[in-house]
Amino acid sequence: MQVTKAIITCGGYSTRFLPITKSVPKEMLPIHNKPIIHYIVEELQQAGITDILILCGRGREVTQNYFDKNFEVDTVLERKGVNIELNPFRDLNIMFKRVAMPRGSADCIYHAKQWVGNEPFVVAYSDDLFLGGNPTQELLDAYKKFKKPLLTTTQVPDGEQHKYGIIRLDKRQYIDEIIEKPMQNPPSNLAVVGRYLLTKDFFKFFEEDRKTLASDKEVCTTAQLNKFTKTTGLRYVTTEAKRFDTGQPVGWLDANLWVLTNFVN
Ligand code: G1P
Repeated sequence: MQVTKAIITCGGYSTRFLPITKSVPKEMLPIHNKPIIHYIVEELQQAGITDILILCGRGREVTQNYFDKNFEVDTVLERKGVNIELNPFRDLNIMFKRVAMPRGSADCIYHAKQWVGNEPFVVAYSDDLFLGGNPTQELLDAYKKFKKPLLTTTQVPDGEQHKYGIIRLDKRQYIDEIIEKPMQNPPSNLAVVGRYLLTKDFFKFFEEDRKTLASDKEVCTTAQLNKFTKTTGLRYVTTEAKRFDTGQPVGWLDANLWVLTNFVN
């Protein structure tokens, strides 16, 4: 089945980037002259995704405005004879859904249940930025081959594994288990990063787990991803792209330096 849908999670409190994120959503922070979410939507578009659902928490109105046609600015530019492409995503079907209360990535993704229906879908975390490659395209290519849900991984150095979900592989090199932020004895150097290709089983797994969760507890997706490993199987792609954690100031600055060095004349 062809994959045409993707969701982008913009639900959380962005505590690692306070105080600016009190009033500027982290996905709207600029990398050179474009917000982070622009690069993510561009990545999805270039991979052939046509339908995008952006899951927005409180205060994300400016994120939605960014995708509007701005007649006023368009008119001013036209009068001045300036030619800047302000609506590169006009052919995409972009929708927004409000997330009333941030309760972690799993709960955020669950808000897409009805929209997703029966189709496989891509999940993009809005603070994971990939440059110099297209991890969504890598997922779609691998899906054609394996026909299984997939995760994107990246190699991290020893000593860094405690910051990520780390995958353990079985003898066939399939994912056996994901260990979330292992404090000791990490099973590999392959860290799960913010692009997945999932099926509707995710929603069933989340419904099962939700019964035992406190309503105010933030839940990451690792428990549900581990259920894939035990049922349908879960594969991975190690991305060729460079990954930046733009959810915190140093990662955001690194991404800007990378773009300035590689793209901007
Ligand atoms: C989440 C996931 C973790 C993954 C990371 C990558 O962690 O729980 O498995 O490695 O994203 O960005 P968070 O960054 O939300 O703590």
